[in-house]
Amino acid sequence: MTKPSIFVLMMAVGVALFFTAGTSGAATKVDDVIKMDHKAYSAHKKGIVEFSHKKHNEEYKIGCGECHHDANGKPLNNLKMGDDVKGCMECHKIPGQIPGELKKEMREKKVSKKEFKAKELEYHAEAIHENCIACHKAVKKKNPDTTAPTTCAKCHPKTK
Ligand code: HEC
Ligand code: HEC
Ligand code: HEC
Ligand code: HEC
Repeated sequence: MTKPSIFVLMMAVGVALFFTAGTSGAATKVDDVIKMDHKAYSAHKKGIVEFSHKKHNEEYKIGCGECHHDANGKPLNNLKMGDDVKGCMECHKIPGQIPGELKKEMREKKVSKKEFKAKELEYHAEAIHENCIACHKAVKKKNPDTTAPTTCAKCHPKTK
């Protein structure tokens, strides 16, 4: 192969890589406002929450790692827009909140705090609530007039 043809080949590879990267980026595009109506729920009991993903990042300046973490729960602080990101449901797999019955059973069996929490976190709505509400409570402590909702009805709009 002569030098110019190697150059052309490299260019072709470069262009191909460019387009592959382009498509995988598009696959992880995220809406500025996410309608939180995950398909794993057969029905939602509560009104659908509109989560302002972009505002949380840009206006409220909250780092990705405050909400996204890896399979060990370690914060993904270095995420960038366009990176592959797993939805919460991929790990917090059970739709809904933990059943009251199960909580009662665990209390009766006196399971450890750690085990109790781990069980709770298997449930999608528990993981989501803990993430959103814990932060909002902290925000409210510092600023009682905050718009960050901490009560059911302020977050889940009323349904008829
Ligand atoms: C305040 C919490 C929060 C912050 C901060 C945040 N995210 Fe998210 N992000 C979420 C939630 C919640 C979802 C919805 C996940 C779901 O539906 O399971 C989501 C979804 C996504 C998705 C779509 C995932 C999918 O299921 O297709 C991407 C991509 C993403 N976020 C990237 C980022 C990046 C990059 C940053 C930082 C620049 C960031 N997020 C910051 C909470 C957050
Ligand atoms: C790749 C798997 C995975 C994904 C995706 C994931 N989590 Fe987790 N999450 C975990 C694991 C594992 C733990 C437990 C970590 C531990 O025991 O300290 C955890 C713990 C948590 C906790 C408890 C944190 C604490 O300090 O105790 C919350 C809240 C939570 N996740 C919410 C979310 C939310 C919200 C999303 C989506 C934006 C999400 N998780 C996505 C695996 C995941
Ligand atoms: C690490 C902190 C943090 C986390 C996590 C977080 N928020 Fe917020 N949230 C804020 C702050 C800060 C504000 C704006 C407060 C203000 O301006 O008074 C806010 C405001 C809001 C508002 C009202 C204003 C708006 O932008 O719509 C909603 C609704 C909201 N958050 C939903 C959520 C949901 C749903 C989640 C979980 C998926 C979540 N937040 C997770 C910090 C957080
Ligand atoms: C900070 C906002 C926020 C607050 C406050 C909040 N939730 Fe949620 N809740 C969510 C989000 C986001 C989801 C995830 C829905 C999805 O992804 O499909 C959810 C899911 C749920 C679900 C499972 C989905 C459904 O509709 O059946 C139930 C039940 C629920 N919440 C009840 C409550 C109750 C009861 C309260 C008050 C004690 C409450 N929530 C407070 C944001 C909130």
